[in-house]
Amino acid sequence: MLHKMLEERLQQAVASVLPGADVRSVLVRPCPDAKFGDYQSNALMALAKERKMNPRQLAIDVVAKLEVGDICEKTEIAGAGFLNFRIKPSAIAGVLQGALRGEHLFFQKTDHPRDIIIDFSSPNVAKPMHVGHIRSTILGDSLARVLRLLGHRVITDNHIGDWGTQFGMLIFGWKIERFFVNDPALLPDPIAELERVYKMVSQACDGKEESMTQLRQKFSYEPGLDLSSIQPEEVRSRARAELVKLQAGDSQNLDIWNRLQAISKTQFDRVYSRLGVRFDYVLGEGFYNPWLKEVVAELRDRGIAVESEGAIVVSSDGSVPQQQDPFLTQKEGKWVSNPALVQKSDGGFNYATTDLATLQFRWRGGHWGGEPDEIVYVTDARQQLHFRQVFAAFCRWHPEAKARLAHVWFGSILGEDGRPLKTRSGETVKLEDLLDEAEERAFEMVTRKIGEKEQTMSEEQRRDIARIVGLGAIKYADLSQNRQTDYLFSWEKMLSMQGNTAPYLQYAYTRVRSIFRKGNVEGGLGQTGDSLSLEASEEIALAKQLLNFGIVLEAVADDYRPNFLCAYLYDLSGHFARFYESCPVLKSEGAHRVSRLALCDLTARVIKQGLDALGIDTTEQM
Ligand code: ARG
Repeated sequence: MLHKMLEERLQQAVASVLPGADVRSVLVRPCPDAKFGDYQSNALMALAKERKMNPRQLAIDVVAKLEVGDICEKTEIAGAGFLNFRIKPSAIAGVLQGALRGEHLFFQKTDHPRDIIIDFSSPNVAKPMHVGHIRSTILGDSLARVLRLLGHRVITDNHIGDWGTQFGMLIFGWKIERFFVNDPALLPDPIAELERVYKMVSQACDGKEESMTQLRQKFSYEPGLDLSSIQPEEVRSRARAELVKLQAGDSQNLDIWNRLQAISKTQFDRVYSRLGVRFDYVLGEGFYNPWLKEVVAELRDRGIAVESEGAIVVSSDGSVPQQQDPFLTQKEGKWVSNPALVQKSDGGFNYATTDLATLQFRWRGGHWGGEPDEIVYVTDARQQLHFRQVFAAFCRWHPEAKARLAHVWFGSILGEDGRPLKTRSGETVKLEDLLDEAEERAFEMVTRKIGEKEQTMSEEQRRDIARIVGLGAIKYADLSQNRQTDYLFSWEKMLSMQGNTAPYLQYAYTRVRSIFRKGNVEGGLGQTGDSLSLEASEEIALAKQLLNFGIVLEAVADDYRPNFLCAYLYDLSGHFARFYESCPVLKSEGAHRVSRLALCDLTARVIKQGLDALGIDTTEQM
């Protein structure tokens, strides 16, 4: 890739002017403004500062040693010592030819593959997947795709919430509903049924009258259990007792637990297959259960966890400044302890305990037998403190661990009213309903579009396209946002054919492909690359944008931000539109025709590959 070549040559020049300097910090990046050039480097200023040298003089000396005449025009020194490079069209053509020959698609696989575990999606059993899980699923899947594309070894792990206090309530609910007789799995929407039962019991625990009334009419499964006059307090103790029985391995409760898992798994798998998301492992919280006791014991032995008011907690050890200490918070101007609970006073374990056990398992190479280089967690913003505490406790527990730990967090999806997205009746929006609606709306749109062009297309074909467009729109609306900001969910915006949307890019792709169909050049351009000539400014601008695909993929991987890729693809389509407007393709001849067809072909390939890295499909017609 050209910028890598430039970077290497610049590093060589710096090394010869400043022998012994660490040239790894000498980087070449795209210019934010094409006015100044295509690529730039600001590394010399820092090097000069360290050595108390005049930065401009250093730049002059380095440029004198720099041999890049085959790649760029004369190197410009700007300001206090910026270097600006402008690439020669002949060098760009050379890279395009390589791409046409199939040697690359403007990115390189890394020379230093990392082992990366990504924990994402992670919904909870017996509850419907809601919009909060959609961001984690879509974001995590895209990160996995980008990292794999760049040659890293990625393991995806779905850390399902399949353990915890909700199961006490669910099992109690299961029994009083006589689900052994009326198996909820046979109902059209078993998850909704489980959710109803869960709600009834948990609201009864809170003393809600309506739920108490419902519950009092249910079936008493045990002598001595009189539901007709039951009080909230007994509901709570019954639910707790069922949980204790489950944790002690009671066979009936385990059986119910297994059935709950199976029902949820069916729902999860349906959603994942619609979204095209795959996991290498699905190891829920329950998988780590056997280790929890040991984890707490070890933390206590090492003095990392201590007893406090009957519970076991990890708190500040004073090793980091207060502002950065996850175990302290500020209250009325004073720093107060904010410990992480690892064992409750009743002996139960916490979310943090499970995550510590999980982290140790992953770090020890439970998945593939070696320590991973990186472990990434994708969840909403509310879990920031949780992960800061878990990571800090883990580092005290295993100071020898080298893996990079990252919490990739995201904001909320807001409804048109600016509040977290809800259905009209105020319920949380279910993921499956959202996907259904996306496909339905896309179907209307596709039907309308096709109608305009007076083409005929079978309903089946239109449904197929609508699925690709609808799901693409939902994914893209999410991925194109800065993940740390809340965003407004708008059907109109995400399905629009204008602007930074999936349908716009998918449509751009079909347009390029249709040029190929019209020109009868389907077979590809393979070996014609020798005679590329880039002359018009629109051709050159488009080609330069293609060149930056790899830089953008790397930026996505470094910052865990797929929105960089969305912005890039959107710009690419803009460049393509300007090119197509001013440069006739099929009507041109000779080297022009070949070059322009090549630009079309490569643009289509980059759009397709880019969308694929976002988990979005393309279609040949729209
Ligand atoms: N089940 C959790 C939720 O729905 C997310 C779990 C994230 N992963 C983890 N290792 N804690 O919020």
